Amino acid sequence: MDRLFYFGSNFKMHQTAAESAAFLRAVAHAANSNHQLFLIPPFTSLTALTPIKGDIWIGAQTMHEAEEGAYTGEISARMLSALGVDLVMLGHAERRQHFGETDAALRRKVRRALDHGLRVLLCVGETALEHECGASAETVVRQLKIALRDATTADLPRLLIAYEPVWSIGVGGTPAPMPDVIYAVGAVRGALRALFGAAGDLIPVFYGGSVDADNVGGYVQIEGINGAFVGRAAWTPEGFLNVFNRASTAKG
Ligand code: PGA
Repeated sequence: MDRLFYFGSNFKMHQTAAESAAFLRAVAHAANSNHQLFLIPPFTSLTALTPIKGDIWIGAQTMHEAEEGAYTGEISARMLSALGVDLVMLGHAERRQHFGETDAALRRKVRRALDHGLRVLLCVGETALEHECGASAETVVRQLKIALRDATTADLPRLLIAYEPVWSIGVGGTPAPMPDVIYAVGAVRGALRALFGAAGDLIPVFYGGSVDADNVGGYVQIEGINGAFVGRAAWTPEGFLNVFNRASTAKG
């Protein structure tokens, strides 16, 4: 696919506001009209980044499903929208695993975020057990069909999907073999088509999970993948730029 290519990093629970701002300044020159860069820092960095973001999208790592209410410690879609963030990531594997973000809650979060004008970066991916048992396709299809149940074709320009096998994410994760990624991305593409018809083909799909400078070129050339979503390897500006350069060279 020769459309815009996406490249970004989820900082997870790393980086202060000042560190995030320094990071953004160090990578800003890489932004150009062929690539959409994005950074997803902790909540506490968002206000430092939105005024200086230029063409780089800034995203939040999660949000609460309710419009507002007695949910101490939580952040709403309205709050994120008021900050001028470009997107909210929903359903990251670590949110699903450690914070009980269920498919049913994600369905409500996706609708809430879209109603507040936010782009949604929905993360899907199978666990090691599901992978071992040959249930990768079933898992990502279920996750997509439930979380996107209330999204309509009018929402499509604001939907982004990241396919990240859980067994490949983070320290201890292993880079996924290409055939496994090709198979699961095919299932993601099939689910998007089942949900939205041919218009679903226009939704960008990113790949993530132990992506680094050496393997990114292979992943981004897989049919149906439109971007790379990188954690550890992109947590320094040098790392970010290195992986990005390898990805954009491979993408051509
Ligand atoms: P990783 O993280 O690149 O460090 O495996 C990816 C992610 O969690 O999005």
